[in-house]
Amino acid sequence: MAIALRLERVSFRYAGAGSDALADAMLTVESGDGVALVGPNGAGKTTLLRLAMALLAPSGGRVESAGRDTARLGPEDLADRVGFLFQQPETQLFERSVAAELAFGPRQLRWSAARIDGAVTATLDELGLAADAARHPYDLPAPRRRLVALAAALVADPVLLLLDEPTAGLDRRTRRLVESVVRARRARGVAVVAVTHDAGFAVEALDRGVALAGGRVVADGPLARVLGGLDGSVALPPPARLAQALALDPRSLRLEDVARALAERCSASDRTLS
Ligand SMILES: Nc1ncnc2c1ncn2[C@@H]1O[C@H](COP(=O)(O)OP(=O)(O)O)[C@@H](O)[C@H]1O
Ligand SMILES: [Mg+2]
Repeated sequence: MAIALRLERVSFRYAGAGSDALADAMLTVESGDGVALVGPNGAGKTTLLRLAMALLAPSGGRVESAGRDTARLGPEDLADRVGFLFQQPETQLFERSVAAELAFGPRQLRWSAARIDGAVTATLDELGLAADAARHPYDLPAPRRRLVALAAALVADPVLLLLDEPTAGLDRRTRRLVESVVRARRARGVAVVAVTHDAGFAVEALDRGVALAGGRVVADGPLARVLGGLDGSVALPPPARLAQALALDPRSLRLEDVARALAERCSASDRTLS
């Protein structure tokens, strides 16, 4: 498995800040991994993504994104391998049509016109945006505008995808679409690291949890275990709250898991009775 992102004892402090926004962070993400980056506000999640996209350089330690040490690089040096979606993706859009927005990155990469056309068409299809290709991004409803920003992050076929709150402000249908796009890209080997407070999205699209608190990585493991160990900074999906209320296995995040845990408990009590 190729390593898509590696942080080796990474620290970062913003100019003038009294403490590190990220301290001694260790993280290895392999191709196909789906990481939910969770933790309370101010934990350092966005800072970690900014370091991974070479928008910031580490104060200490080493960041390797898509195989490249970011120390002397900027985001443009990673554009052929790393895609990212900002917390306010609207600030990423500046072209006059959806298709032009998608073509912008590949043009910077000096792809041929034919290759750009092919990639733009395929990505518009993947995100259900084909009918909007000629429209101005700002004429689209907010959820579709966010899809355009996601499409722009995907069009150059990144091996590492960095998403900051990808489902914030999305309606249910658009959210389902984002979940399935993330799953499909992961199946093709793309590593995804998503900052999210949306456990429902995390459960459907990702499978590993990394929790930050006060700039430190405080948990890294199977998603259910990491989410189950949090104290309210991520809203658990309804099945997980039901599992908690019934004191079932706290790793039960989906309705299927809850049903299985309940069935196990029932058959255990059947055995006790007979
Ligand atoms: N541009 C900045 N300048 C100074 N401090 C910042 C800046 N951005 C974030 N911070 C601080 O760094 C810490 C981590 O912030 P951030 O990475 O945005 O956390 P999160 O995304 O988990 O909410 C916080 O204490 C925050 O106040
Ligand atoms: Mg943030």
